[in-house]
Amino acid sequence: MMTSELVAIDERRLLRRLDDLAQRGALPSGGLYRALYTPAHVAATELYADWCKEAGLLVRRDAVGNVWGRVEGSRGGRAIVTGSHIDTVRGGGALDGALGVVAGLEAVASLVAQFGRPTRILECVAICEEEGSRFSTNFWGARAIADRLEPDEAQRARDADGITLADAMRGVGLDPARASQAVRRDIDNFVELHIEQGPILDESNERLGVVRTIAGTAHLEVTVRGQADHAGAAAMERRRDALLGAAAMTLAIAKVATDMGPPAVATVGTIGVEPAQVNVVPGLARFTVDARHSSAALRLELIAEIAKACKVIGRERELAVDVRTLRDRPPVQLHERTTDALRRAARAAGVEPREMVSGAGHDSQILSAAAHAAMLFVPSIGGRSHRADEATAAEDVVLGTRVLATALRDLAYAA
Ligand code: GLV
Ligand code: MN
Ligand code: MN
Repeated sequence: MMTSELVAIDERRLLRRLDDLAQRGALPSGGLYRALYTPAHVAATELYADWCKEAGLLVRRDAVGNVWGRVEGSRGGRAIVTGSHIDTVRGGGALDGALGVVAGLEAVASLVAQFGRPTRILECVAICEEEGSRFSTNFWGARAIADRLEPDEAQRARDADGITLADAMRGVGLDPARASQAVRRDIDNFVELHIEQGPILDESNERLGVVRTIAGTAHLEVTVRGQADHAGAAAMERRRDALLGAAAMTLAIAKVATDMGPPAVATVGTIGVEPAQVNVVPGLARFTVDARHSSAALRLELIAEIAKACKVIGRERELAVDVRTLRDRPPVQLHERTTDALRRAARAAGVEPREMVSGAGHDSQILSAAAHAAMLFVPSIGGRSHRADEATAAEDVVLGTRVLATALRDLAYAA
């Protein structure tokens, strides 16, 4: 282990690059949207690749479009990696994912500039997709690295315009048949800096957190079938309105999570109806549920209670209800000894980091299947995230990046 002094970084370059990256995909209405394999996404990854080259790193785009910057270690072995995702939600802010991408590169570039070649292979990565915003994929980039892609996934997944993920890949010069070549089996540690996205650090006036557990997430699709009818001629008491059923289910789902208590959460984030006409009673409603809990057992209970609540309402209203699991990811414990490197680095800054549970999903939860993963959180002002006004104080961005760099020095420059 090297000295416990905090590593210096180029603070102005870090903050400027966060601003520059936020221009890629900026929306006229505010916020930004960098959806996988769109021009804004390509522009962001090219900018990142240029910055990696500027730092003298070996740059490579892998088979799904994750961009890696690498410096060889004098002793070789398994790699030390830092990074996060470069895609965003629709109307998202400038830091979710982007902070870990820009700060990871800043940390690696600063280390190489100050200490030269590490003993271990040191890499930074801009992961192509985590959010599931364009395709119903989420964690596409990290799953490709961790060998968790599903067979024919690229052929099956379609965006709202019907474009397959495979065609979107071809559009940016990637071959979907080669996606499995993105797998890495040589990563030792993955360390991710991320904004908290919740209010805990901000409200308790703490500046750093380390993540012990990432909550498990289930995504369900609920289809409610009633009877389409004439909006003028069908009397209210004769209707089997699928949307009214779905509305009652939405309220019941929120109540299930509220009654279970924190950290249970459940969100109906999308809903569609058919035939979707102003003068027709909806005959079908289809909505998604995102349900999360950090306890494996309580998460299963939450999912079961949600399904039960929907079925009960369906029976009451004479609606057919089908609940389908789109994906189901259990909670993940991050790696203790790698987290220790972050704790030591935080203490070098005079900060005792708070031990935290993340309700938000992160690339680290997937990469923990392929590497020893750890996460550092900096505060989100007002707990705001997945919205245009997501923000973190500049001094916390700088502190988090310096602590990240210090932990990476610990991991990658050990004698
Ligand atoms: C991603 O931000 C998620 O938690 O769904
Ligand atoms: Mn996000
Ligand atoms: Mn994120």
